[in-house]
Amino acid sequence: MKSAAALPPYDILRWYLDAGVDETMGEVPVDRYAAAARTAQVRAAPNPEAVSAESGRGPARIPAALAPASGDHTHTHGIPGTAAHMAAECHTLQDLRLALEKFDGLNLKHAAASTVFADGNPEAGIMCIGEAPGQEEDRQGLPFVGPSGKLLNRMLASIGLDRSTAYITNVVPWRPPANRKPTPDEVAVCMPFLSRHIELVDPQVLILLGGAAASAVLAKADGINRLRGRWFEFNSPGLPRPVPVLATFHPAYLLRTPEAKRDAWRDMLMVRKKLTPH
Ligand code: URA
Repeated sequence: MKSAAALPPYDILRWYLDAGVDETMGEVPVDRYAAAARTAQVRAAPNPEAVSAESGRGPARIPAALAPASGDHTHTHGIPGTAAHMAAECHTLQDLRLALEKFDGLNLKHAAASTVFADGNPEAGIMCIGEAPGQEEDRQGLPFVGPSGKLLNRMLASIGLDRSTAYITNVVPWRPPANRKPTPDEVAVCMPFLSRHIELVDPQVLILLGGAAASAVLAKADGINRLRGRWFEFNSPGLPRPVPVLATFHPAYLLRTPEAKRDAWRDMLMVRKKLTPH
């Protein structure tokens, strides 16, 4: 890639887009030196979960295979400042929201405008989990409020649900730059928070939206085509009983692949059946 200084104005914008810079962030200047200092502190801290979004490398990475995907994050429970320790200390959803806002172990957070926690009704009994916020979600601080959120609303409506009768969150609460997929390491860092989130909500049914959420929560390497349309269970020490889990296609994928909507519709019917008392 050429250097930006050598390019005419239009090409400079193109160059920024190619480099992943796809929005301006507001009218108040951001002190990048302070952010860099924070990042340096995080890198220096003995936090086995800290990961750099740029390099994917942190001081001591947890391999994706060890991601505490079924609530088993006891290996770092005792280390203050780690996601596992902070998540284990949370006894309410408000504690968890504040813990995520305080957490400093993932550089994704420094590039994002918001910590996107959740939307909807945590008492509803149905919890949907997506991948990570996009641009509109980052701007509003709420999950699924952009184009894929509109389709998610329609998917929920197809089985008589809306945001007052469902609860929605993501595996990763910070928008990855340029909407790239979160890396397995970034997902692994966030998993203790997500496991605790599921424990605190204690839903009747979990819906996993897309391959990233499905493989993170089910701890399976299979793609979404293999995982969707079948019931699994999510188990975690803080849950009174295993939660039935169904994976389906991500609404963003359905927007690009309308022919897959038929299968997603079948998946939603499976959820409705599970929720309907016999
Ligand atoms: N895609 C996601 O996975 N989550 C959101 O919140 C928005 C888009």
